[in-house]
Amino acid sequence: MAELVGAFAASHGPLIIREWERVPEEQQKRMSAGFRELGRRLTAAKTDVLVIVSPDHWSNFFLDNLPTVCIGVGETHAGPPEPWMKAFPHRELAGHAEFGMHLVQSALEQGFEPSVSHRLKLDHGMCIPLWRMELEPLPRIVPIFLNSIEPPMPSLERCYEWGALLRTAIESYKEPLRVAILGTGGLSHSIGEKTMGAIYEQFDRDTIRLFGRPHGELISFLNDELMRSGNGSEEIRNWLVAHGAAGGRGFELVDYLPVPTVIVGCGFASWRV
Ligand SMILES: [Fe+2]
Repeated sequence: MAELVGAFAASHGPLIIREWERVPEEQQKRMSAGFRELGRRLTAAKTDVLVIVSPDHWSNFFLDNLPTVCIGVGETHAGPPEPWMKAFPHRELAGHAEFGMHLVQSALEQGFEPSVSHRLKLDHGMCIPLWRMELEPLPRIVPIFLNSIEPPMPSLERCYEWGALLRTAIESYKEPLRVAILGTGGLSHSIGEKTMGAIYEQFDRDTIRLFGRPHGELISFLNDELMRSGNGSEEIRNWLVAHGAAGGRGFELVDYLPVPTVIVGCGFASWRV
């Protein structure tokens, strides 16, 4: 049977690539170390398949067709379409069609209704962490796009439940795969709104602290505070999926630092699973 061997979370703002040279050296070092440490742990866990949970940033979907959750069941996925991601070392990433479809089927059997795609482009939300984690060779990727950028979005509780569901689904897969989950996005940032560029450090630190508390406390706090902490903070949903997969326990912050140059409160975390 397959098993969950790791749960991780990392930020992914575009300016981590586009403005990297302008990031102060000390912050560059800490961000690189944060990504690398997650990569080291993921590799040490001998991960065969990585389930990445991230929003789609208008690379596959738009307002005319915007799934809440879409699972990629392709044998391969296209690399990032953004021109400024052209140095990403993979134009095609291996998927796992059978395992992806197993996640879909398990979800449907338990009252969750994901969309399905056989052909997805993995944009910067997934590929910046993969790149900066220095995963070579890459594990096979099963992407899950979870709408965490455009209202209406799934409830925070539901995102947590998705994590629990994924763990059950992973553990019911018949092959002995070693599977990890990576949630990407957040922490606080603000894009295309009046507060663009703001980082809400206190919100980030409170959120991080509450990952160590019963998940109801975390979700209650987020339901009150997310709206006031920049629209990019909504991506914390992807961390909640990883948290749910870990049963709401074992959160460990690898590092957190607000990085004004990339306009993101940058967080790196893993869970004991
Ligand atoms: Fe994003």
